[in-house]
Amino acid sequence: MSAAGATPYGVAAAARAADAVRERLGVRAPACAIVLGSGLGDLAHDIADARRVPFAEVPGFPTATVVGHAGALIAGTLGGREVVALAGRFHMYEGHDAALAGFPVRVVHALGARTLFVSNAAGGIRRTFAPGDLMLIADHLNMMFRNPLIGPLQAGDVRFPDMSDPYDAGLRAILRRVAAEQGIRLQEGVYAGGLGPTYETPAETRMLERLGADATGMSTVPEVVVARAIGMRVAGVSCITNMACGIATHPLSHDEVLEVGREAGTRFRALVTGFVRALD
Ligand code: HPA
Repeated sequence: MSAAGATPYGVAAAARAADAVRERLGVRAPACAIVLGSGLGDLAHDIADARRVPFAEVPGFPTATVVGHAGALIAGTLGGREVVALAGRFHMYEGHDAALAGFPVRVVHALGARTLFVSNAAGGIRRTFAPGDLMLIADHLNMMFRNPLIGPLQAGDVRFPDMSDPYDAGLRAILRRVAAEQGIRLQEGVYAGGLGPTYETPAETRMLERLGADATGMSTVPEVVVARAIGMRVAGVSCITNMACGIATHPLSHDEVLEVGREAGTRFRALVTGFVRALD
């Protein structure tokens, strides 16, 4: 590779990281890679025959810092299918580049995953949402105004990725069907990803509402952008842990976000397990 292509979070670094952990994880051909958002990490307990590598031992990964993120790469089976899960993620509000926020997606791709399921905690903007709701992500707004693909073109990347179907229509249909079968209420809407770490002001929530956002959070967008650039199919679910500031009637706290995430966790676990089982 040319020197210009050797970015710290590019395809070559991802291949090195994958090579370093592949045997420890015993990964062969994962049907799906799963990113576990704040408060949603309990799904990791449902992964059978789990092998874990702490993020700190993955070459190229810094240590995750946010409370509620265990920070490990986990391989095993879920719903009878081989999966690899990222329990924890790198947020830009921790000071990380967008390219690092998207880097774990390159690593799971190098481990063989071609389908990505992302999850996050988010504040509800659409007035008919309620805390504890799960929202199928139909599309996103990149309110981070950063892009993980900026820089030298990586081998295998598309320079100008099409984003007309960022969240795969077929995968969304599977999620709707699984939710209906299991009696899980599944909202659907547009996720706005901001930088954080502040929650929105009431004026910002009104702005996002007018721009077409149904929920708002501080993650996910860089991961999905990288996934689309390398040709992965993506599906995602937000857990509405609170109504966004200005709609909520009380100040927001991270503890509340984690608590509601855990309460919704049972439905989330059933939905994701059913989704993975139904993948072709
Ligand atoms: N805003 C931004 N990020 C969030 C929120 C919110 O209201 N809730 C959980 N993550």
